[in-house]
Amino acid sequence: MTIDRNARLREIRNWDDYFHLAIDAPEIGREARPGQFVMVKVADGPSPLLRRPLSIHDAGASGIELFFKVAGLGTEILSRKKPGDPLDLIGPLGKGFTVTNGMKGKRAFCVGGGRGIAPIYFLARELGARGLQTNIFYGGRRLVDIPLRDKFEKAGIELLCSTDNGSFGFGGLVTELVGLELAKTKPDVLYACGPEAMMKVLASLAAKHRVPAEFSLESVMGCGIGACWGCVHRIKNESGDGWTKICEEGPVFPGERILWP
Ligand SMILES: Cc1cc2nc3c(=O)[nH]c(=O)nc-3n(C[C@H](O)[C@H](O)[C@H](O)COP(=O)(O)OP(=O)(O)OC[C@H]3O[C@@H](n4cnc5c(N)ncnc54)[C@H](O)[C@@H]3O)c2cc1C
Ligand code: FES
Repeated sequence: MTIDRNARLREIRNWDDYFHLAIDAPEIGREARPGQFVMVKVADGPSPLLRRPLSIHDAGASGIELFFKVAGLGTEILSRKKPGDPLDLIGPLGKGFTVTNGMKGKRAFCVGGGRGIAPIYFLARELGARGLQTNIFYGGRRLVDIPLRDKFEKAGIELLCSTDNGSFGFGGLVTELVGLELAKTKPDVLYACGPEAMMKVLASLAAKHRVPAEFSLESVMGCGIGACWGCVHRIKNESGDGWTKICEEGPVFPGERILWP
């Protein structure tokens, strides 16, 4: 984990309420693994006081990328940053998706719903580099909610897209599209990030098809480093079904350990 107070915004792009940031932060970039996140200090002044958690959308030797949807004050301030602005980041934090060398030749389904696509891009690149076959599902309510289509395609990563209103790709929920594909092909593993309702359905689909699955959970985070207990979620562990700090033990957990609300 690095505290980088000298990170610098290199580039910012947006589509409607969705923003993509490329940030010079080499130490964090070199350490990052798919599914980990950074805590971003969004304002120079006292408000908002707390840092905001954002998944690492991509990483490399020069730094990291973030992808977010404006949700409130913190992300709105971040969306107004300009290239060259300094950024104060802590990361990479948490435990990401399980990806090992022994998975070469296996097939993975990766599902991103809305802004939950953020960590899936980094994951898809990593899985491809390790020789896995991937089916990447990208779902949103409307066409404007799946703005990263071109980015995946430019990176040679094929997508299966869905929109709830049928404006692009499969018409319906991304969980329905995944269900149809699961009936045709059984992957060795399923990874997902997105709204909790989406992940809950995917967890039961994965269990029904006996596919091991991992999910990246979200929670409002106060510190991101295990100090405040602000981020707890019910997770099965050795001592029972306990409240667990997802910033420390997660945010990624195996499906069978998550107790969905
Ligand atoms: C590990 C982790 C990774 C994340 N990665 C991403 C990402 O890559 N891209 C992205 O767009 N968002 C991501 N989020 C969600 C993001 O952190 C919140 O949207 C953001 O903190 C909201 O801050 P704000 O100041 O803009 O909004 P606030 O003013 O703080 O809140 C606005 C509204 O959003 C709700 N909210 C705040 N935080 C969360 C949250 N964590 N989950 C659900 N609702 C929330 C509040 O209850 C409120 O209703 C992630 C969250 C976690 C825990
Ligand atoms: S965010 Fe503070 S303990 Fe997890």
